[in-house]
Amino acid sequence: MLENLKSKINQIENSFNLIVNDIDSKEMINKVKVQFLGKKGEIAELYKILKDLPLEEKKIAGQLIQSLERNIEEKIEDIEQQLDKKEFEKILQNEWIDVTLPSEFFKTRPLFSGHLSPISSFIHKIQDIFLSLGFTIADGPQLENEYYNFTALNIPENHPARDLQDTFWMTNGLLLRTHTSPIEVRMMQKLSAPLKLIAPGRVFRNEATDASHENTFYQIEGLMIDKDISVSNLTYFTKIMLSQLFETDVKVRLRPGYFPFVEPGFELDFECLICHGKGCPVCKNVGWVELVGCGLSHPEVLKEGGIDPEKWSAFAFGLGLNRLVMMKYAIDDIRWFESGDLRFFYQF
Ligand code: DAH
Repeated sequence: MLENLKSKINQIENSFNLIVNDIDSKEMINKVKVQFLGKKGEIAELYKILKDLPLEEKKIAGQLIQSLERNIEEKIEDIEQQLDKKEFEKILQNEWIDVTLPSEFFKTRPLFSGHLSPISSFIHKIQDIFLSLGFTIADGPQLENEYYNFTALNIPENHPARDLQDTFWMTNGLLLRTHTSPIEVRMMQKLSAPLKLIAPGRVFRNEATDASHENTFYQIEGLMIDKDISVSNLTYFTKIMLSQLFETDVKVRLRPGYFPFVEPGFELDFECLICHGKGCPVCKNVGWVELVGCGLSHPEVLKEGGIDPEKWSAFAFGLGLNRLVMMKYAIDDIRWFESGDLRFFYQF
């Protein structure tokens, strides 16, 4: 009986050795596993025979079967590892990417074709226009104090007008400026009258965002202090700016508007350039686009700037830049500007 079993073991070993070198796929491995190591496989059959052997022979035969089983298992494991390795190498060869190469995105756009954002290029254009009209370019801090952002602009503490501009407050009492108007008083104190300046910059509002509201946006402040400044000076300069900017004659209109730092105060609208006043989605069917808050500087504000309101008068305006750019390029959502999404910026 033992001899019989031994020859069976030899047979199985031989037949395994015959096919083992031809295994070249996972499917084949599985087949071979079932054939030799499966529940009804060749080894299982051997164990069945083992049961009927006398005890002494059982020991010897048991060891022989076990060592055959281990051999087969080890070889199969080896082959499995080799196959995994080959498969991985194949994937490496077929699917490797050179991460140092420029992405597909840049293939159609030269790598170093950086350019100004539409906001910056508008700022540059508006600066050129006002420089040619004898204005100075001014700047101020984005991290502002309460005095310049509110108090000096005739918005005392606890005044409801402070609530009109939801504010990001810092723990040290400073704030992110809610508008570019604080630059007005800073410059009055520094440069005195007469004075003609514009001041572009980034401003911040602590408010919920949607297609037409963003917590970070851009304004351009304008200020002209001289003798006998009137509303007609104000409309003249804003009209010139818009007409030069859009290279066409732009119609403007004034509506009364409340801003504590001007008296009288206005909202300046310009006729929608897309529909020419007829009404379209861009102007929300009004025919006019609200663009500028403006007016004649309040005497209190001039006083804060150290300027005698009896001698001097001034106009001021604050223009929403994003809206202007949105108008020019028919951009439907203000949030694109701060999105950092290059697909947006590459369009300009
Ligand atoms: N600072 C105002 C705002 O952000 C805009 C503004 C209105 C500025 C009237 C002015 C002005 O200079 O005269 O809402």
